[in-house]
Amino acid sequence: MTSLLILGIETSCDETATAFYDSEKGLIGHKVFSQIDLHNQYGGVVPELASRDHIKKLLPMVDHLLNDTGKTINDLDAIAYTAGPGLSGALLVGSVMANGLAFSLGIPSVPIHHMEAHLLAPLLEQDSAKMPFIALLVSGGHTLLIKVESKGDYKIIGQTLDDAAGEAFDKGAKLLGLAYPGGPEISRLAESGTEGAFTFPRPLLKDKKNLDFSFSGLKTSLMYRVKQLKLDELFTDQCRADLAFAYEEAIVDSLVEKTHRAVNKINVDSVIIAGGVGANKKLRSKMSKTFRKKNVEVIFPSLEFCTDNAAMIALTGSYRFQQGIHNENYQITVHPRWSIDKIYEEINAYG
Ligand code: KG4
Ligand code: ZN
Repeated sequence: MTSLLILGIETSCDETATAFYDSEKGLIGHKVFSQIDLHNQYGGVVPELASRDHIKKLLPMVDHLLNDTGKTINDLDAIAYTAGPGLSGALLVGSVMANGLAFSLGIPSVPIHHMEAHLLAPLLEQDSAKMPFIALLVSGGHTLLIKVESKGDYKIIGQTLDDAAGEAFDKGAKLLGLAYPGGPEISRLAESGTEGAFTFPRPLLKDKKNLDFSFSGLKTSLMYRVKQLKLDELFTDQCRADLAFAYEEAIVDSLVEKTHRAVNKINVDSVIIAGGVGANKKLRSKMSKTFRKKNVEVIFPSLEFCTDNAAMIALTGSYRFQQGIHNENYQITVHPRWSIDKIYEEINAYG
């Protein structure tokens, strides 16, 4: 088969990203621009600002990628872009640009599910995980345990009933007076925390069959602790570090325990951990330790492919394109809410 060059475009939230993926040679180059500085002063992502900045950055980033890789726009065989889930305005910017460019070049555009791309991201660096496997997808908007039978066949076996794990990190960080995004900030502060100084609840653990998550009670519990400590004038730097330690540990323990249960239930040889929270060092080390004993392989993408990037979009686009699936009429439609077990329902509607 001749090789295909796919441009990947990611604009679902606060990262503008572009990548070239060659179906034979693999990833050729990728770029990520984070809007963190833009949103930091507001303590979270402001959707309208995110959309406007994607408009400014996206096409120049395609140009930079062409310059860096020595490719020309006419070398492209298809353009893959994130069609959902995500912020609607931000998704629309990527969709309009991807479809406009693809239409003008006379090449197909391929709509991609952002969480499927996170799930497949480890394949940028290694051939494959033995199917079926369990995937834990943990990002700012999602916490999902998925049984993966094959590429495209995803069954949700557990999910959060309220906040996502990344959201819990971000909200917790705000309560502790830390910057956005909260995950890396809480981790950094937790390094100087004392084990056992505080403990937080780990919900939904009693029923041994339960594979769902809940993080909103944890956040509320932190909120009351902080309020009381402030009233008692005990909210010192060391106290904040101790709270960060206990808070991070509670989130990580819930994720490890439920993934462990899923592996016991389904009996797989591999587990993939993906999404922004997958960059968490404590999560990585506790997962590896837990599954080493059971001879189950734990696969993490490297840090640059854990958080949002377009390499994973271009890679997923290459699979989807080879399945013969693309957006035939260059429809701009996006899917801000889109369940990972309903990928084909939405994609087939483009035909
Ligand atoms: O996948 P991602 O980059 O964007 C979404 O699709 O949401 O995930 C972003 C989330 C944020 O909530 C951020 O706080 C969290 O991932 N995150 C982390 C770490 N790095 C990013 N959470 C815990 N520890 C980290 N090191
Ligand atoms: Zn993401």
